[in-house]
Amino acid sequence: MSRAHGRTVTPSGGPDVKHNRSSLAHQARYALTHPGRVAPHLRRLARDAWLRLRTRDHVAYYRAVMRSDTSRSPEGAVGSHSHKRWLALGRMQFDYLREHGLKPDLRMLEIGCGNLRAGRLFIDYLDPGNYYGIDISPDILFAAQDTIVAHGLRDKLPHLTPVRDLRFAFLPDAHFDVVHAHSVFSHSPLHVIEECFAHVGRVMRPQGWFDFTFDRTEGQEHHVLREDFYYRTETLVGLADRYGLNAVFMDDWERLPHKQSKIRVTRRA
Ligand SMILES: C[S@@+](CC[C@H](N)C(=O)[O-])C[C@H]1O[C@@H](n2cnc3c(N)ncnc32)[C@H](O)[C@@H]1O
Repeated sequence: MSRAHGRTVTPSGGPDVKHNRSSLAHQARYALTHPGRVAPHLRRLARDAWLRLRTRDHVAYYRAVMRSDTSRSPEGAVGSHSHKRWLALGRMQFDYLREHGLKPDLRMLEIGCGNLRAGRLFIDYLDPGNYYGIDISPDILFAAQDTIVAHGLRDKLPHLTPVRDLRFAFLPDAHFDVVHAHSVFSHSPLHVIEECFAHVGRVMRPQGWFDFTFDRTEGQEHHVLREDFYYRTETLVGLADRYGLNAVFMDDWERLPHKQSKIRVTRRA
């Protein structure tokens, strides 16, 4: 097993759904097998403790994490440690969504759009004005503007908006055909996901869908440094159900070389 972007993956590249990464035993085992990663982990631990002391809630804390990470590298801040990986991860999201219903005339909301790793491909593919990206981090949205310029996408007039929460209060009813959140709930405590489920149905068209990825565990739910959160599938399916949403585990996403799992949510009639 190896650890990438704070998560553990199996040699095949698929998710490791068994281990509790917050347990002392796991951390001790990990430190013994990866001595070179101990110092960076301790630095991250110290930074995160400092940021937690200075922020009032999870969103403010994570915004501060993103500010710190983005100042070093916007691509690194969204979890890609090389430009090649940044391109590949964007392509993987885009190809999957195209194979699963995306059409140019659909209206899309991307939650936690980052610096448009996949967003640049969605923007290019969708009709002008049909892409709406939101993020809690103004810093990563500045980097998203750079991506628009670098990829010649100005004429597509994408919307990019910073948000404080996931209530979508400023967005219209039944507007979006597609909602997409990649590697966002993997960084979110359950109350943030619940807030999203409580409100996302209002902004989705009746036939619309909402795809999100999450870090899956089949053991005890846990988090590492309040940055990476691991959930059981049934927890998220049950939570969606409480807000009138049907949730389906996307089996075919598991075949891709990606360490998170994917769920598709639709509105119940
Ligand atoms: C790992 S990055 C992924 C970015 C993008 N989805 C991608 O795949 O490149 C997670 C992004 O989600 C944003 N984010 C985290 N929590 C959020 C929340 N509660 N609401 C909106 N954005 C959030 C972060 O600021 C960051 O840009």
